[in-house]
Amino acid sequence: MRRAKISIIGAGNVGATTAHWCAAAELGDIVLLDIPLTEGMPAGKALDLFQAAPIMGFDARITGTTDWSHTSGSDVVVVTAGIARKPGMSRDDLLSTNAKIVGDVATRIRETSPDAVVVVVSNPLDAMVQRTFQVTGFPPQRVIGQAGILDTARYRAFLAMELGVSVEDISAMLLGGHGDTMVPIPSCTSVGGIPVTQLVPADRLESIVSRTRSGGAEIVGLLKTGSAYYAPAAATAQMVEAVVRDKKRLVPCAAYCDREYGVGGYFVGVPVILGSAGVERIIELSLLPDEKGALDKSVAAVRDLVAAMNRLTA
Ligand code: NAI
Ligand code: 2OP
Repeated sequence: MRRAKISIIGAGNVGATTAHWCAAAELGDIVLLDIPLTEGMPAGKALDLFQAAPIMGFDARITGTTDWSHTSGSDVVVVTAGIARKPGMSRDDLLSTNAKIVGDVATRIRETSPDAVVVVVSNPLDAMVQRTFQVTGFPPQRVIGQAGILDTARYRAFLAMELGVSVEDISAMLLGGHGDTMVPIPSCTSVGGIPVTQLVPADRLESIVSRTRSGGAEIVGLLKTGSAYYAPAAATAQMVEAVVRDKKRLVPCAAYCDREYGVGGYFVGVPVILGSAGVERIIELSLLPDEKGALDKSVAAVRDLVAAMNRLTA
């Protein structure tokens, strides 16, 4: 059976850790690519990871390279290229540098893997996924941003800590942009099937939501030299798995919404069905007025960010 080809662009913390999760789950053969300036770094990480295979018992070819031709014909391309947030820096501060990097990367993806599903991780996420869509010209279903699975995982983790229950029993959904303006949907949050509002008082729930909103900044503040990567990479690998195994997972991702939720042509976090074609369906929830208001605010923030990016890249 032909194995899927997964190329990961950017062999830094998120890229290399995504390669690790994907290899361990035998999702396919992996190409880890970085810029020539990094010289042997991607090859070294790939070789090191492959040498873990006999111990952990996974079969996957793992190649590290700075040569785009090695990524040709990928089924999935993951974009983690760019700079990460340092303490005191917001995701939006990354805008100009990463718009240039992601634009260049998207051009190479269009040339080398024209049929790929592209999973974008680089920040500011909601703008970088739009940039990838603009430059590749791929159908919107094949360009997807990773944010919602991570934000939801943080929310689930904090709820599990609060209640002293297994993370496995917590199911949740968040909409909107990555981070500060994300929109929790309490009616879609349950613990072992019990609505969260029956278990967590409103003020505690609000503070858990607030901690989730700044979940990325909390890790930056602790690490001091970069941003989170284990959970972001796990979230990305879950998206790769949904595509290469055609899992039809119902997960929150940054997907292109036009009429959906009245967004008007931007990528925002919404529940989607993720399978081999990429975003196979966007699920439209009926929202309460305050949830709809919060989503509109989040979409407005994404629109402003994209407008700023368009000015910088014009
Ligand atoms: P990192 O600095 O460890 O790795 C980034 C890598 O990209 C570096 O190795 C760099 O050489 C490489 N790179 C730069 N330009 C490139 C190009 N043109 N082609 C190929 N590779 C290139 O950063 P880290 O921690 O891996 O984060 C990567 C990105 O992901 C950042 O923008 C970060 O903010 C974002 N991020 C997004 C998350 C999300 O939920 N969407 C979560 C965590 C990080
Ligand atoms: C995070 O949320 C930095 O976006 C990244 O951890």
